[in-house]
This record gives sequence, C-alpha cells and structure tokens, in this order.
Amino acid sequence: MPRKVILDIDPGIDDAVALAMALFDPRLEVVAVTASGGNVSPEQATANLQTLVGLLDPPRLPRLGAAPTDTVWPAKPFNMHGPDGLGGIDLPVARLHSGHVSEKVIWETFHAYPREVTFVALGPLTNLSRVLTRDPAIAELIGEVVIAGGTAHGNGNATPVVDFNFYCDPRAARHVVREPMAKTLVPLETTGQVTFGFELLDQLPAESSRAGLILRAMLPHTFRAHRQLLGSEGISLHDVVGLVAVTNPELFERSTVAADIETGGELTAGMLVVDRRTVRQWRPNLDLLTGCDVEAVKDCILRGLAAAGAGT
Ligand code: RIB
Ligand code: CA
Repeated sequence: MPRKVILDIDPGIDDAVALAMALFDPRLEVVAVTASGGNVSPEQATANLQTLVGLLDPPRLPRLGAAPTDTVWPAKPFNMHGPDGLGGIDLPVARLHSGHVSEKVIWETFHAYPREVTFVALGPLTNLSRVLTRDPAIAELIGEVVIAGGTAHGNGNATPVVDFNFYCDPRAARHVVREPMAKTLVPLETTGQVTFGFELLDQLPAESSRAGLILRAMLPHTFRAHRQLLGSEGISLHDVVGLVAVTNPELFERSTVAADIETGGELTAGMLVVDRRTVRQWRPNLDLLTGCDVEAVKDCILRGLAAAGAGT
C-alpha cells in the first residue's frame, strides 16, 4: 500500500527535485502538494508549484495548495535558487486552477485520511503551524511529520547557527516541534553529508523526458550558486535527502531527543536547541536523524530521478 504524503514546499530547486521524485515513486501516494513562501515569494512559490506539477503531469494529480500571501519573512541572507526560484529557467506558467490556500488543503487532507498521512515539510513550517492554530485537535489526525530543517549542532546556513526553513518562521517551527504528533527531523548536518559533483549532470534523465528537461535546465544553476555563494564545488540537495528519509528511513541513524526552537535573538531565532544535559529537564519530543549511509542515499536519489524520467 503506497504511503500517503503531503509535500509542503517552497520551490526552490531542491524542493522541485524532491517533488519530481515523489510524484513518480510507487511507494508514495502524493495526495497533496502545498506551497509556502521562503526560497521565493508566496506568489512565485504557488506559480512554480502549479507549473512543475502541470509539466510533470503525474499519473495521479495531487491536490495543490496556494502559499499564503500574508506572511512576513526576514531578509534572505542569499538566494541559492535564482530569481524565479528554479534557476531562472522561466518555465511556461501553468495555472491548473484558482486553488485553495495551503492550510485549507492540508486540513481537509488530514480529515480525509485520519492518521494515515505523513506531512513532509521541505520549507518553512508556516502552513502546518496555521493548521494547528485553527484546529489544535487535528494533531491527533496527523500520521507523522518529517521535517527537512534545523541544525543538530548549530551548523547553519541562513545564520551561523540556523537553517533557512526555521530562520524564515521560528515561531511556526517552535509551534510544530511542541505539538504531540510523531515528528522526525532531518537537520542540515545530515542532509549536508550527501553531496554530488558535476557527474550528476550526466546521470540525470534524458531531455526527451519532461522530468529530464526540467532537471537538466535547473541543476546547472545549483552548481553555480554553490560555487559562487558557498565556495563549494559539490552541491547539497537538502530537501531531496529529506524525502529519502521518508522512503528509506533505514538508511539513517536516529536518536530520540528533547528539543525546542529559539524564537528571539538576532543571531539565533530559529535555532534548534537540544537538551543534552546529563539529567535532561525537557521531555523527549522528536526523532533526530543524526547521520546516514551517504552512498546508499545517493543511490536512492539517482534511482528516484531515473524513475521520474521513466514516468515522464
Ligand atoms: O536549509 C535548507 C532549506 O533551505 C531547504 O529546504 C532549501 O529549499 C532551502 O529552503
Ligand atoms: Ca525548501
């Protein structure tokens, strides 16, 4: 039985790669894909989501959620994803439908499939926090939440100690982390272990496939951005590793921890704080994926990309 998932994304190139893989993974039933601002404006995130799903044209069309436009984000320290969020590839804009706002689609999906759905958070946690605020009881209907974000040991990207997703909306991150549903966190220190060199560009699906066309147009920008902005010759695809944590959890080391999110502090707002005291004062509340079998995860990613190419 395929696992029902909601993908919550702020596309973003790595979000887009994870989306293409998820839509053509037979182990997953993507019942909804919901947009959030973050890497790009809410409006751009919604447009990118609709365009990507329209172009990929998966066998089962998921419900789509539009990013809320009343969000206020802190200034982005840098942009890894280009002006349109997808490496400047200027995809033909598709308007699949007027669309409902993400939190409505998420709420309805949890109610349609009580305790069956895994919420895969690949962007800021704003949408899930809003659902929990409107209907706190819905926490009982959520199967699991898997979050790509946070820093297990303060190795950040948006600030020296904060990951971008938690940086965008620290209060939402704290709200979600404090909720009782099962939560798994894939922090930057783990997703950042999985890097690809230029050979990845030769391993992508052929341009004759729709997925290959999109991936081959987007990914060169990621290599340029990593070199110019991070001084790195290899690339990380954080959200893609987050998706593999859903499909192949056996490839990750897991530790149950007691954690919370800093919401104040000019330099630390969004920082994941783990209680590692000898006598822990906080109650354990999430599973932290502290490492992974890097080569096996990379192999999963290459196979997932090939499946997306074969399906399009
Ligand atoms: O810190 C990694 C996160 O920031 C990823 O979700 C990526 O898409 C960017 O949003
Ligand atoms: Ca993202």
